Order: sequence, then structure tokens, then C-alpha cells
Amino acid sequence: MLRQTLCYIAGALFPVAGLAAANDVITIATPATSMVISAPVGGEFRLLHYGGRLTDSDVGSIAASGHKMQAYPVYGMECPAEAALAVTHADGNMTLKMVVDTCNTTRSDESSLTRIRLRDEIYPFFVDLFYRSYDDHDVIESWVEISHQEDSPVELRRYASAYLPVRRGDVWLCHLHGSGNNESQLAQESLEDSPGMKTISSSHTINISHASHGEVMFALDGKPRENEGRVVGAALCYGGNYRLDVNTVDDEYHHFFAGMNWTDAPYRLTRGEALRTPAVAFVYSEDGTSGVSRVYHRWARDHKLAHGDRTRPVLLNSWEGVYMDVEQATMEKMMDDIAALGGDLFVMDDGWFGSKYQRDDSSALGDWTVDRRKLPGGIEGLLDAASRRGLDFGIWVEPEMVNSRSELYERHPDWVLVPQGRQPATGRGGTQMVLDLTNPEVRDYVAGVFDSIVGKYPAIKYVKWDANMPVRNHGSLYLGPDCQSHLWVEYQRGLEEVCRRVRDKYPDLIMQLCCSGGGRVNYGMLPWFDEFWTSDNTDALQRVYIQWGTSYFFPAIAMACHISAAPNLQTFRSIPMKYRVDVAMSGRLGVEIHPEKMTAQEKEFCRNAISEYKKLSDVIQMGDLYRLQSPYDGKGLASLMYVSPEKDEAVFYWYKTEHFCNQHLPVVRMAGLDAGKYYKIREINRIDSQPLECEGKVYSGKYLMGHGLDFPYNHILPYWEQLDYASRVIHLTEADGTEVNVASK
Ligand code: GLA
Repeated sequence: MLRQTLCYIAGALFPVAGLAAANDVITIATPATSMVISAPVGGEFRLLHYGGRLTDSDVGSIAASGHKMQAYPVYGMECPAEAALAVTHADGNMTLKMVVDTCNTTRSDESSLTRIRLRDEIYPFFVDLFYRSYDDHDVIESWVEISHQEDSPVELRRYASAYLPVRRGDVWLCHLHGSGNNESQLAQESLEDSPGMKTISSSHTINISHASHGEVMFALDGKPRENEGRVVGAALCYGGNYRLDVNTVDDEYHHFFAGMNWTDAPYRLTRGEALRTPAVAFVYSEDGTSGVSRVYHRWARDHKLAHGDRTRPVLLNSWEGVYMDVEQATMEKMMDDIAALGGDLFVMDDGWFGSKYQRDDSSALGDWTVDRRKLPGGIEGLLDAASRRGLDFGIWVEPEMVNSRSELYERHPDWVLVPQGRQPATGRGGTQMVLDLTNPEVRDYVAGVFDSIVGKYPAIKYVKWDANMPVRNHGSLYLGPDCQSHLWVEYQRGLEEVCRRVRDKYPDLIMQLCCSGGGRVNYGMLPWFDEFWTSDNTDALQRVYIQWGTSYFFPAIAMACHISAAPNLQTFRSIPMKYRVDVAMSGRLGVEIHPEKMTAQEKEFCRNAISEYKKLSDVIQMGDLYRLQSPYDGKGLASLMYVSPEKDEAVFYWYKTEHFCNQHLPVVRMAGLDAGKYYKIREINRIDSQPLECEGKVYSGKYLMGHGLDFPYNHILPYWEQLDYASRVIHLTEADGTEVNVASK
């Protein structure tokens, strides 16, 4: 009996209370998903379903049965366990009671936008909820705009972008946590086993994805599986402080809220002003966590990354090779080497600037003029040297920051974020501070940094935008006493304005987003950037874990992965070149090593690998990711693959993560291939003295996905060349008729 009075939301069933007239019901649809909402004018706004795409008949039945969950719970009346929005009106009243005012849907080329306006029953207070559904991606973005016409400012105490009820059952939360040098560690936990409130947040802005991430997945069918099961993804597209809450209390739902972090940030909303919150991008897939990742990746390439349709150049970055010891001769030597390895671009990292103060850990940030003592030919000389070698040239900047030992700080001590009457907290080198981007003058200055570099030298093709300090003190000399609590919102607004200005002016520039590694990886910042620096940790073994977690939400095309030195400069571990290259080749490949320190044999190996990578970069960077064997499962193995959209080509990776004698490893079954097609196997980056048994053979997609290929656990090498690491990169290409016949004889 109960079943007849339930309807479906986020893969879950909601109890019914009252009827919703069909004409109040709006379906927001993507190719394979539907969100069904009920918005009767003058009545309550409710969410009827989010999950797989519904037939009209099911929508009709659900609408006719109705249900009682609010789509955007507000605080004060019939107090919900947690609210998305809580305010204090000027008269001290702390309640809201919102009803539907208007609804409309508009179309653009690639998406539909539904807007539901809610108004309070007695105050002129409004919330506009927006839902953007994409025609060709299973993504629905949701955000709100909060405004009012009350005589005095209203204080917003909390202001989430979106709320989603997730029906309890066996729901698991997947999220990323970590730190600088250990980013994007995957955590998967049963929500049923941890009732209460779970909060994932960032509170110092800037390095918002070091300790945790603003993106999560909910696996609805028990312990998450990569390629099976229903999963909801939620990515908050915001580069500032965020707060995600999952509240499990005494009812049938996990209550999920996502938005800007309202802790220590009450917002005084003035009459006529609208506070627009960042979007939460929801994804629903029945193909497991990898299925959700693939949707995010395709959407990112089409809509959320700069130049998502262009494969990326192979580059050498000077940082780990020379750190700040940047000099003309060294730079030219590195250019020679990356040109010889077949790379396309040379990037000069930190150390190139400073006039009165020479750059070191504690000096010169803010003084973006070339240090002629180190680089007598200036930027012109470097551009010239790169062009003579057929390379493009890129440069590092950290435009939001300043050192107290700098000419900029001497001129503008009031341009840093500092609480009134106090000494600023400092970061790296004991002298680094964050510039106050709430101040329009500072924003002009930061945008001007780009004019003085890229504007002046238009041949610069690439900029690495770094930010190596979070905000460590709460205070702005620019924001008035009434608006100190707006700091986090206003800083991000300022930053976004600068990014927009830079992008509008330099649309073709390739930009890397870096924040002491992967501290700023999120879809709030990425639209202005082509890629991000995944981690300052370039140790290939630890990278297997970091890149795995990162790939939950972010595509290979944007994930910078560099081959670095052994022993590694962060972990001091010595990993063979083959393994280092194989791991870096699963993202946007680059080199971060002084090639001078490589043997001739290593150089030759890298030269071949780069040439192979360039042939495969379409599949790796534009293909669909299937994660196969998680390193986090502790099976001693990690494996993933990229498959072309046509399923005629794939690149498969297999990495041992442990090395013990007489170990037993599972055989990895592939995924994403066409069961009816045949594929020819070719190992790339082979170091073994004999080919794999599967080399050159042809297998059906059905076999590869049903059984998989078995690899020797160690590389086949003479005794004295044996390695304690093993990895494989396999290129699969669709076999033509002749090859299939030959193989089956
Ligand atoms: C940060 C970055 C590094 C490098 C240094 C330069 O740590 O993550 O890649 O650019 O700054 O100071």
C-alpha cells in the first residue's frame, strides 16, 4: 500500500502529502536524466524527482500523487532540521515563508534555463531559483539569487546554492581530502554508518581544494562501484570558501546542502541588491562513479574549460629542474633539451623577476619586472631563444600576492588583506601576504600585471598563475566596518572580475591554474583556465593516488602531470623512468626535470614516449575515462583506460602499486569498449627484452571486458636490470577484417 503513495527523488522514494496539479509541474530534462519540480503559484515549491529520465506518463503519475519535501528549505517556520537559507529582517524577525510567485523557462543554443521566483508571504523578500539543463550533457546546474525590497538591509545568515534530499538506504558519500603534496585523496564512506551532520568546507579561500573539495558523489546502491550502480554527483562551481553539509537525522533522507561558506560570513543585503550564489552542477548516472566522472569530463571540455576542444602542448617547466636559479644560459639549455625531446613549449617558473629586491622565498613578489642580472636579454631574449628552437614560451606569475620586501608593498602597504589596527599574518618566507582584491584599485593593478607581461610580449603563449598563500587573517582596509563579514564573498568577486578581464583581453593565452599544486582545482575557477597543476608532489607512485582522486571530477586534458627526477624531490623515492613516464602519460604530459640530469638512454626513452603520446593525446585528452582497479582498494594494482568516443581506439594503463615476491594480482577487466568490435594490442613504452604474449594479437571487446589481459608482474629484463616497479601502457586499435581473420585461424 505504501508503495502507491511514494514518488521518486534522487534515486529515492518520497512520501506523499497532497496533490500537485499537473500544470504546476515542470520537467527539467537532459538526455538521460530528469528533475521534476512542482511550482504552483501561491503554493510551496517542491522537488518531485531527480534521477533517470522519466516518461511523460510517470511524470503525470508523480505529479498527481504529489509529496511534501521542500525544494529549498528556509528557516523559521516549521523549522526544518537544516535550512538552505536563513535571514534576519531589519525588524528582528528571523523567519521566512516562501511561496511560488512566477516560473518561466527560456532557451539558449545549448541549454534550457528555468527560473522559479519565490516570494515571502509577508515581506518583500525574494529567492529566484535557477536550473540550467544541458541538451547534450546530463548536467543540471542549480543556483539562487536572493533579493528584497525591504526598507533596511536584511542579514543573510546562511545562503546555500542548492539542496538535494537523498533517500536513505545504503548511500555512500565519495569525497576528496588531503593537503598540499597529497591532494585529492579519495574517501568513500557509508552515510548510514555515520548519522549526524557531516560538513565539508574551506575557510581560508584561495587554497580551497588542498584539505577538501567542493565536489562529492552519492553512490545510491551501496559501496561505490566504478562502472555500475546509480550515482549522483554534485560539484559546487566556486573558487572561494564553500560549505557542503550532509545531515542525517531522524527521517528517511540524507539532506544535502551546498554553497558558499556562510560561517563567519553573514551578508548584509541591501534593498535592490541581488546576491547570486555559485551553481551546483548535478549529474546522475547509472554507470557508477566513472559514469558520473565521464559526464563531468565531457561537460568540462565543452563548457567549463578554456579551449576544451584543443589538445594541449607537451611542455617543460623549469621549477624542479632549477628552482629559482633562473638564468639565460640555463633556460636556453633546458630549451635545447625539451626541443630535442620533441616538446612544444618551455615554461620559465619562479625566479625571473625583481629589481630593487632580488627574488627569493621572501622577496620581490609584486615586482613583475624582469631581473636583468639573471636575464640580461630580458623576456625578449628568452622569446627569441625559444623561437629559434621552434618552441613556444610560457612564464610563471603569482599576481594576487606580495612580499613585504618588495617595491609594491613599499608603495602600497594598505593593499594587503589585514584587519584594522593589526600586523598582517604572513606566509611563505615570513613576508608573503595576499593582496586585497576587494579593492578596485588592486584589481586594476592585478589585471595590469598581465598587461605588463602578456600585453607587452604577445609572443608569450602560456602563463602559470600561482597562489601560494591562503588568507590567514580576516580583514580588509577597503571594506567598511559594516562589511568586514563580506570579505570572503568580495575577495572572490574581485578575483573573478580580474580573471574575466584577463581572459577577455587575452583569449588565446594558455593558462595554468596553480595553488601550491592542486589547491584551487574547482569549476568556479577553471572556466578561465586551460589546465591545473595537479600537485607539487611529482612522485609517480603517490601521483597514481592523487590523479585517481582528481579524475573523479576533472578531465585528463586539464590535469598537468610531469615526468620528474629520481630520487623524487618531495618523497626522495627513486622510481624508474618507465613508471614515471607511464603515470605522467595518463594526463596532460609534461616534463619537470633538468634534462641535463637524464642519461642518454632516459632521454631516448622520453623522446619516444613524447612522440607516442602526441599520437595518442586525442584519446587520452578527449576520450572517455573508465577507472578499472582502484589503488585505494589495496590490491597492489591501479588500472584505468581512455576510450575514444567512436570506441575504435583506447589507451589502457596498468600500474603496480606494491612490489612483493610471489604476490597475486587480479586480472583487470577492461570497460567502455564495443563488445562486438575487435581490437589489436600494442604495448607502448616497452622496456622488456621480449614482447608481451598479447602483443600484436587481436581480441574482441567482449573478451577484453569479460576477461581482460594478464600481464607478467615484473618487467622481463636481464637479472641485473630488474626493477622494483612495473607498469604497462597498452594502445588498442580497432582491427580491420583481415587482422581479425588472421588472429582467429
Ligand atoms: C608553487 C608551485 C610550484 C612552483 C612554486 C614556485 O609551489 O606549486 O609548482 O611554481 O610555487 O615558487
